[in-house]
Amino acid sequence: MLDKLERIKKQAEAAITHMQQVEEVQDLRVKLLGRKGELTAILRGIKDLSNEEKAKVGKRSNEVKKDIESLLDAKLEELKTQALDAKLQAEKMDVTLPGRSLVYGAKHPLTIVTDDVKRIFLGMGFTVTEGPEIELDYYNFEALNLPKNHPARDMQDSFYINEQMLLRTQTSPVQVRTMEKMTPNLPVKIIAPGKVYRKDDDATHSPMFHQIEGLMLDEKISFADLKGILMLFVQKIFGEDVKTRYRPSYFPFTEPSVEMDISCVHCKGAGCRVCKGTGWLEILGAGMVNPKVLVYGGYDPEKVTGFAFGMGVERVAMLRYGINDLRLFYDNDKRFLQQF
Ligand code: PHE
Repeated sequence: MLDKLERIKKQAEAAITHMQQVEEVQDLRVKLLGRKGELTAILRGIKDLSNEEKAKVGKRSNEVKKDIESLLDAKLEELKTQALDAKLQAEKMDVTLPGRSLVYGAKHPLTIVTDDVKRIFLGMGFTVTEGPEIELDYYNFEALNLPKNHPARDMQDSFYINEQMLLRTQTSPVQVRTMEKMTPNLPVKIIAPGKVYRKDDDATHSPMFHQIEGLMLDEKISFADLKGILMLFVQKIFGEDVKTRYRPSYFPFTEPSVEMDISCVHCKGAGCRVCKGTGWLEILGAGMVNPKVLVYGGYDPEKVTGFAFGMGVERVAMLRYGINDLRLFYDNDKRFLQQF
């Protein structure tokens, strides 16, 4: 028995030294110490020995068992560490490298300006509405007092889908769409932001750009209301000290029509490159809603008056941020976009 014990111990020691795999260690553990293991068998046989032998073999077999167990444990630990080292080596992970920083998104300057305009008009009791980008010729031109073959269509003639439909050239069609929905309710106070399309393409014109339309209707609305509202608006968006002036203009859907200028935000009116030395910047088109358009929208021009205006969002953003090329808005260049 004792000889057998020593043999098992020697063999086990030799085997363990050469082991390369975790599985080998586990197999040997079962082979010696499992339920049917060689060492287990000896331990079980002890009870049949004489008392004297029981003491000797019992003591020795417990020692051998403990030794083998600790050798197996040590080997297992060693192999696991080796496996981890190999894995770390393979992944070449350098935990001291600095982390990759996240790139944060931000609002596009056109969105910032649109949001500001919305906020200002919401504060004056207007609501925000929208119209379709693919528009009927009827709303884009006809109901705005631009009948077929009207010469003013030439300035805007654009991308036609078919005879009756086109990509809207302005947000003004939302005026008539809103009136149709609202009539006969008063007052009507809306702004309508959105994309518009024209056949222009250069440093200050893009075939797609953004406008914000405004419309206010009620009994006894006068040109003074137009001036008051627009004055408050430009002061809120460009600063308290901004001045406005109006020049006569022509739009078929307003009468009278005006262009509104503001004192140059760059030189404060002294004259510079931005305002081409004039001290003034053209900012939007506006006017009193033409009675014909009120009729198209379902309102009685004898009772109802109002004003409308339309501004280019790109233009406002360019003036506000001092941007000189409109195409920068659409290039998706992070170096540009990160500045706002
Ligand atoms: N729709 C006009 C344009 O695109 C602007 C405008 C809107 C003028 C409303 C007067 C009233 O030029």
